[in-house]
Amino acid sequence: MDQAEGLRNIMNGRKLALDSLAGSGGDLLSRRAPDRNPLVLSISSGKGGVGKTNIVANLGLALARQGKRILVLDADLGLANIDILLGLTPRYTLEHFLSGRKKLKDILVPGPEGMLILPAGSGVPELVDLNETQKICLLNEMDQLSQSIDWLLIDTGAGISANVLYFNLAAQESIITVTPEPTSITDGYALIKILATRHQKKNFLILVNAVVDEGEAKEVFRKISLVADRFLSSVSLDYLGFIPFDKHVPTAVKKQQALLEIFPQSPAGKSFTELARILIDRPFRNRNEGNVQFFWKQVWQVSNINLT
Ligand SMILES: Nc1ncnc2c1ncn2[C@@H]1O[C@H](COP(=O)(O)OP(=O)(O)O)[C@@H](O)[C@H]1O
Ligand SMILES: [Mg+2]
Repeated sequence: MDQAEGLRNIMNGRKLALDSLAGSGGDLLSRRAPDRNPLVLSISSGKGGVGKTNIVANLGLALARQGKRILVLDADLGLANIDILLGLTPRYTLEHFLSGRKKLKDILVPGPEGMLILPAGSGVPELVDLNETQKICLLNEMDQLSQSIDWLLIDTGAGISANVLYFNLAAQESIITVTPEPTSITDGYALIKILATRHQKKNFLILVNAVVDEGEAKEVFRKISLVADRFLSSVSLDYLGFIPFDKHVPTAVKKQQALLEIFPQSPAGKSFTELARILIDRPFRNRNEGNVQFFWKQVWQVSNINLT
């Protein structure tokens, strides 16, 4: 048996495995497939600590409350913490799947409002380092999963590491999170610049977090788009919205519960609900282009290009 045949066999075997989904995520996964392919959104930032994980958790919840089936991939490798934020205790992580010890459905953790969380864990290698078998298994099981979700949200982590770049390049839409801090703006710009100049990514959605009001958010957006217009040809930055600075956010973090669960009427809570509405109404480019398998293929395709 040659290597290709071996991989095909693995794919077929894995396909059967997900046909009989049961356990924690089973009910959700057995719901009917959406007519359209899931939308893949990456949430990134240049600088760490700007609120990505909070945004992914609460935006996911807000989207779920508005009827969307959500899968969250916690891909902030090394700093994976969405489970901690939501008070979840995953028994297994992507690491168990990649080592062949668990099926993908076994590592999914059900979160609030039926959101599914795929915890990456801290021992997961950069995606570029996965071997062929791991890639195919992940592709195949992800593809099965995609039958039961509407949106895949990816917390990519911060900076310009290979993983952050791959996910941004492969996602249908990239949300770049910035705060009014000058370092957050310059680092956010640096991420956009690398994606635009080295990898021809042209469209970004800017989400401004921890601002006093919309005026401050628009000012932050104006700053980043001024520089982008000046130095990056044909890059298009869209203002997505803002989340106000709100003391309820750290309070919810300390309680290990999603803000939207315990303070839905707080200023930030209302903004997440509004943001979900904006995203649902948004006519996304490439909405029907490819499925989640297509997405992962893109990830690995771009991982073959030189990122240095
Ligand atoms: N809108 C906000 N208002 C107040 N505090 C916030 C807000 N967004 C995030 N934070 C706080 O900032 C810290 C970092 O948030 P986190 O989501 O972990 O950032 P990242 O994932 O980008 O590293 C957390 O302690 C959180 O409570
Ligand atoms: Mg984080």
